[in-house]
Amino acid sequence: MFRQGFFDPINQIIRTHGRVCGYYIGRRPIVVLADPDMIRQVMVKGFSTFPNRLNNNFAPKPMSDCLLMLRDEQWRRVRGILTPSFSSAKMREMVPLINTATDVLMNNLNAHADSGQAFDFHRCSGCFTMDVIASVAFGTQLDSQSNPDDPFVHNGQKFFGFTFFKPIILISMMFPFLLTLLRRVLPQRRDTVSTFFTQSIRGIIRQRDEQPPEQRRRDFLQLMLDARSGGESVSLEDFDVVDRTHAHSDTQPDPVRDPSSPSRPPPPPTAAQKKKRWLTEDEVVGQAFIFLLAGYETSSNTISFACYLLATHPECQRRVQLEVDGFFHRHDSLDYTNVQELKYLDMVFCEALRLYPPGFRYGRTVDEDCEISGQLFPKGATIEFSIGFLHYDPEHWPDPQRFIPERFTAEAKANRHPFVYLPFGAGPRSCVGIRLAQLEVKMALVNVLHRFNLVACSETQVPLELKSDVTLGPKTGIFLKITKRDLNRC
Ligand code: HEM
Repeated sequence: MFRQGFFDPINQIIRTHGRVCGYYIGRRPIVVLADPDMIRQVMVKGFSTFPNRLNNNFAPKPMSDCLLMLRDEQWRRVRGILTPSFSSAKMREMVPLINTATDVLMNNLNAHADSGQAFDFHRCSGCFTMDVIASVAFGTQLDSQSNPDDPFVHNGQKFFGFTFFKPIILISMMFPFLLTLLRRVLPQRRDTVSTFFTQSIRGIIRQRDEQPPEQRRRDFLQLMLDARSGGESVSLEDFDVVDRTHAHSDTQPDPVRDPSSPSRPPPPPTAAQKKKRWLTEDEVVGQAFIFLLAGYETSSNTISFACYLLATHPECQRRVQLEVDGFFHRHDSLDYTNVQELKYLDMVFCEALRLYPPGFRYGRTVDEDCEISGQLFPKGATIEFSIGFLHYDPEHWPDPQRFIPERFTAEAKANRHPFVYLPFGAGPRSCVGIRLAQLEVKMALVNVLHRFNLVACSETQVPLELKSDVTLGPKTGIFLKITKRDLNRC
């Protein structure tokens, strides 16, 4: 599976052995769950028994301080402090930064349109996402496509070139007893890259602390620095950003994050929270890595997949373009609120994530012996949710291989089991960055489709070959052509 990828082989295991089955990675047993009710039990109802992901002993500091990796009380404290930084109100502040990165993307795409040649769209979306991360998390303005030698771009590429997920981490999962030995012989290269990012962030923190507050750049790093000591903090029941994002219209004020909302003020912090509402500098630095670890491949793959699907389904592309053109007759520019008006675009976004969920494998560890639907789960077992299987399950998705955005009308969503569609997870441990992901991906798509037509050509691979090691992504890029639209006629 490590060579072939996990997506198809796991679906095959489930088809053969049923919705609760398993496999071994070396000596570690993995229990695969593809039953939506049992998944709901693990993710939400019985959360206190399954609060953690698989222990990743290989992540070096400061990555090991990143929310994705944290466990138990430390996770709870950091998530409580961090969740408000991803609120609707805070996302509004990110719009100008994402807009700047979108302008750079448009310039780069213009050059491809002028050339008339097919090009790797996935590479462009990767550069765009890297520019957004550099800007919102590392306080650095970039054009990574035009400046591949910039130290940030260079180190960013190295970071992904040998991520600690790759062979060495897989060996550690197979043979945990080799961990200590492997740590000693690990190449130092990885440390050089994390040192680069760590020093950059520490440098910026020093600078910001010396600046008067009104001169500080408003980015995610600053939100975290503001939250460092005694900022807002929310409790476990408010951690489920995914559920909130789906349940509330995003044009409404967010009741948790906008404390001014009369409908539901944030609950008063408990004594334990009051005592511990701080982030150490190491933790601040660790959280900046969220964007690289959790936000880079996921967002750039989503943009690429959506564009691939629109290029290969021109009738849907035309419908998005009509919606976007109508939008620009009503508004001069995009912002966090008005982007929610684009209902068909949202359906395309959801359907792209159903067919190609970048985070298709994630799970929890079992904290104490328990039983779910008559099945025993021993303490220490690892549970893996099979998102790939659920998203293609013909019981819930008729004709599952087809791209049909209308599966995501409000009515169709209301008639479906909510736990058969989990691109961002669910429950308190779900994706904290969902609002940023939606904003960033939709801002890119709106601008691309307003200015260009995406055209499938002889270089476009249909069906698309996928890689499915850590995230689900295109195996060899996504090759398309683009042509400019006549904006006077839109
Ligand atoms: C389309 C883009 C994205 C997708 C599909 C995605 C998907 C996911 C998934 C499936 C999980 C695991 C959920 C679970 O275990 O229940 C997750 C967790 C997480 N995501 Fe995202 N994500 C995306 C973008 C982002 C962005 C942009 C950020 C932040 C910058 C982010 C930050 C995180 C963090 C920090 C976690 C771990 C949360 C915790 O353990 O408390 N993600 N994401």
